[in-house]
Amino acid sequence: MKFKPFSLIFIYLLLACDWGCVMTEEVKRIRAAKNCDNRYNDLKNGYLTGQQIFIRSCNTCHPGGKQSPLGPSILDYKNKFKTTNELKHFIVQGSKSGMPGQTNLTSEELENLVQYLSKEF
Ligand code: HEC
Repeated sequence: MKFKPFSLIFIYLLLACDWGCVMTEEVKRIRAAKNCDNRYNDLKNGYLTGQQIFIRSCNTCHPGGKQSPLGPSILDYKNKFKTTNELKHFIVQGSKSGMPGQTNLTSEELENLVQYLSKEF
């Protein structure tokens, strides 16, 4: 067989490209895993914002603060709860008429939620 430098270079380029692609995929995977770790750590150290808590735990029954078949409007809650502490107490305890108590919020998260409510409604 005659020596064909051109085909050798061609094969070499092909291999280099394949190897490069494999490496890029690997690097991407490592980065993605690192990002995941970072987000997990953020969540462990940081607290949920008021808006996050509202969407997660309140919005189903008080959509946008308005009434639904599951809960009343909370738009004029300020008339019912004169102090922030009363409101916090109600949120944590819930009520017998169908409002579930929020027992697993940290005090920071409860504060975030109450501030969000007073800003939004
Ligand atoms: C399963 C449905 C449900 C969920 C979830 C829920 N609530 Fe309620 N909520 C109710 C019901 C029912 C009442 C009426 C209870 C009562 O008056 O005793 C109520 C009452 C309230 C009131 C008093 C309104 C007023 O003016 O009388 C506030 C404020 C309130 N909810 C805030 C929240 C917040 C904040 C969250 C999220 C942390 C939340 N609720 C989650 C059902 C729900």
